[in-house]
This record gives sequence, C-alpha cells and structure tokens, in this order.
Amino acid sequence: MAIRKLARMGHPILKARAREVENLDDPEIPRLIEDMVDTLRDEGGVGLAAPQVYAGLRIVMFMVPDERLAEGETESVPLTTLINPVIEPLTDETVLGWEGCLSVPGLRGAVPRIARIRYHGLMPDGQRIEREAEGFHARVVQHECDHLDGILYPMRMTDMTTLHFVSEMRHNAHIEAEDEV
Ligand code: NI
Repeated sequence: MAIRKLARMGHPILKARAREVENLDDPEIPRLIEDMVDTLRDEGGVGLAAPQVYAGLRIVMFMVPDERLAEGETESVPLTTLINPVIEPLTDETVLGWEGCLSVPGLRGAVPRIARIRYHGLMPDGQRIEREAEGFHARVVQHECDHLDGILYPMRMTDMTTLHFVSEMRHNAHIEAEDEV
C-alpha cells in the first residue's frame, strides 16, 4: 500500500483528457487502484480520480456514506471503482449543490449537476457495472468523471460568489460542510 501525492489545480495532468484503460491485466492497474483507495482513505474524501494522483488513466472511485444521503434517498453506496466510466444524462434538470475537491484544497463552491444519470463502466475484476443515480450519488460520479476530461468543479460553477474557503464558513452559517472529492 502507498499513499500517493495529490495533484492540485494548475498541474497539467488535471487539465488533460485521461486515456482509456486498454489492458486490465496490466499489473500496474490493481496497484494504482490500491494506492488510490489508500490515498482516499488517508484524506477522508468520498471520491478520487486517477489524474489526481498523477495517473492519466480513466479510473475513478467514489462512495456515498449514509450521512450524505439527501432526503428521499435511501441507499448509501459502498466504495466503487469504475474503469472507463461513461455517463448518460436521464434528464435536462440540473441541481445546485456544494462541492469540494482534494485538488482544490480548502475551497467549496455551489455547482450545478445533472439531477439524474445512468452510468456504466468496468469494475477492477472486469465485470461491467451499470447504475442509475440521483442526488449526491449522481453528483459525485459527475465530479469524478469530469476529472477524466480535465474539468475541475470551479469550471462548472455558474455563480462564482459561492466560492469560499471552508475556514471562513463561520461567516456563512447557511453553508454546510462537504467532503472533498
Ligand atoms: Ni475532485
């Protein structure tokens, strides 16, 4: 196991399109995924994409812990690793929600995301997974997959006045804390 260094906003790897994983038998892939899990757990985040640890491959991981379930949502999502993920919007509707990012440390902003999506990809054992998602689940998947296309959440923001340092949150009592992803 190894905790990897995190790339932060400004590093070219976070602006580049990550490439598809073509060979799941490459021993580097499980090693990378294991290190990503270690790094995510060490940081206490809820999602991570391979470019954030300087690996330009289409691999993301995310989870939805119980405490992140919005009203009406009933199922938390255990840590899921997706290789070559693809997102399909199921609605035109967008919802605003707070996001942070391990590559943009200390900041939070309100980001519009598609309210309901279907996504698919491969699990590390090669099995195909397909799910529908809404709420925070849909949000974290969109956030992580954006990393694979060189997009950081501030680039999705429509109201930059909501961008703020977490350390100033005491001045913004209406803003809830969010994990970095
Ligand atoms: Ni992020």
